[in-house]
Amino acid sequence: MNRNGLGIIKREDVTRELDVARAVAERFEEAGRVGGNAPRCFIRTFGCQQNEADSEQLAGLARVMGYAPAEREEDADLILVNTCAIREHAEKKALSVIGTFKHLKEANPDLIIGVGGCMTSQKHRADTLKNSYPYVSFTFDTGSLYRLPSLVAEAMGGKRKFAESDVYGIAEGVPVFPKTPHSAWLSVMYGCNNFCSYCIVPYVWGRERSRDPDDVIEEAKRLIDGGAKSITLLGQNVNSYGTESDHGCTIAELMRRICRLDGDFVLRFMTSHPKDASDELIDVIAEEEKVVKHFHLPVQSGSDRILERMNRKYTREHYLGIIDKMKKKIPDVTVTSDIIVGFPGEEDADFEDTMDLLRRVRYDMVFSFIYSPRVGTPAAKMTPAVPHEVSAERMERLLALQTAVSDERNKRFLGRKVRLLTEEISRTDPSMLTGRGDPARPVHFSGDPSLIGSFVDVEITEAGAFSLTGKIV
Ligand code: SAH
Ligand code: SF4
Ligand code: F3S
Repeated sequence: MNRNGLGIIKREDVTRELDVARAVAERFEEAGRVGGNAPRCFIRTFGCQQNEADSEQLAGLARVMGYAPAEREEDADLILVNTCAIREHAEKKALSVIGTFKHLKEANPDLIIGVGGCMTSQKHRADTLKNSYPYVSFTFDTGSLYRLPSLVAEAMGGKRKFAESDVYGIAEGVPVFPKTPHSAWLSVMYGCNNFCSYCIVPYVWGRERSRDPDDVIEEAKRLIDGGAKSITLLGQNVNSYGTESDHGCTIAELMRRICRLDGDFVLRFMTSHPKDASDELIDVIAEEEKVVKHFHLPVQSGSDRILERMNRKYTREHYLGIIDKMKKKIPDVTVTSDIIVGFPGEEDADFEDTMDLLRRVRYDMVFSFIYSPRVGTPAAKMTPAVPHEVSAERMERLLALQTAVSDERNKRFLGRKVRLLTEEISRTDPSMLTGRGDPARPVHFSGDPSLIGSFVDVEITEAGAFSLTGKIV
């Protein structure tokens, strides 16, 4: 039990779900739906890496239920949508995709459609799906993903079910079906206690709770045995890993323990909150060979006035202090950030502070977003709203500046030999492979697809703002 009262979800509860899953599989088997005739499950994931990781659990549960993966939604007997709620755009996109399933359900009345994740963890959205999307069979929230088997079993019996907010614990023992076993996700904590004034995450994910370090280590071992060459530790705010637990293990110690495991692999982590980015964490990045020299440290704004209104709990000077420290200890570090443009009350001078901060830090890459009001968050009531044209114009200027900086930063890799994990066939040029390493951007190079999942040494021959190209040496 964590000190905040959020427990581990009882093993029996997870075991019971796995029993239900196997019972579903037996029903399929009796109906001859195995092998080439097996039912198929299609999963569509929106949002962040946390959702990608959760979808691998959905896929794992679906597999126990006897479902084979479907390539297209048209071929599916079960469609699962894992939604995001971070900005309005993400919700609109999910709703429009769900809307396109109506005709699939008409064509196949046995089709089961389930929607879960951040969007459906808000009551008003779960209600919308219940009332206006009659072809949706069930919703589940971020805390009840492990209940997928019962939800599917009930849907098979013709029942519709819409999740109310649930117990936000941690479910251990949920099977995963990884999409890319060589590049694995590993969730170490869930939830967020920070309540940045614009952010929906604390409402849809509940309070912070951390997995037991031994459970994390066990899973890391399993992933490595299963061929993982890259492990990314995930949490909304990994810096506060363990702070609400009794085990006393920090994220830095956890990372050191993982680095001690046998195997040739690299370790990444995200996301960090600047208010508690510790020296210990910077030391781990600097000292541990397996840790990728990359720090994603979202600043959100360069203006103290706006940071205060955002409830970020640090100042621009504090932030720049962390960056300085990091650059001293890890001279070649890759630093990336998130920026919100057009937060309520952001004036030209505040935006200029953000631009100035970008010039000072010289990030390798920035994810920038136009502020999107979220129902129930304090910022949604803040005034004055920044007109969209103003935000769009600021965004354009920010992107122009950052593209130039990213271009210069990436050029430092020219002629250098970097070690990359070959991840996939390039999405833009199927004759090339794509790999990742220290550069923030993916590196493209030609090579045999059998290299996917292996490390290669690549010399960088071209470097632009958005991608790098190289050749295997
Ligand atoms: N836990 C992480 C990030 C979570 S969400 C952190 O605190 O840094 C990822 C990014 O989405 C945030 O860093 C922020 O830049 C952006 N974001 C969050 N809420 C938003 C909103 N309401 N409008 C626009 N961007 C938002
Ligand atoms: Fe991820 Fe946040 Fe979106 Fe949820 S709301 S999917 S945690 S980015
Ligand atoms: Fe969101 Fe802030 Fe937490 S951005 S996830 S409330 S740290």
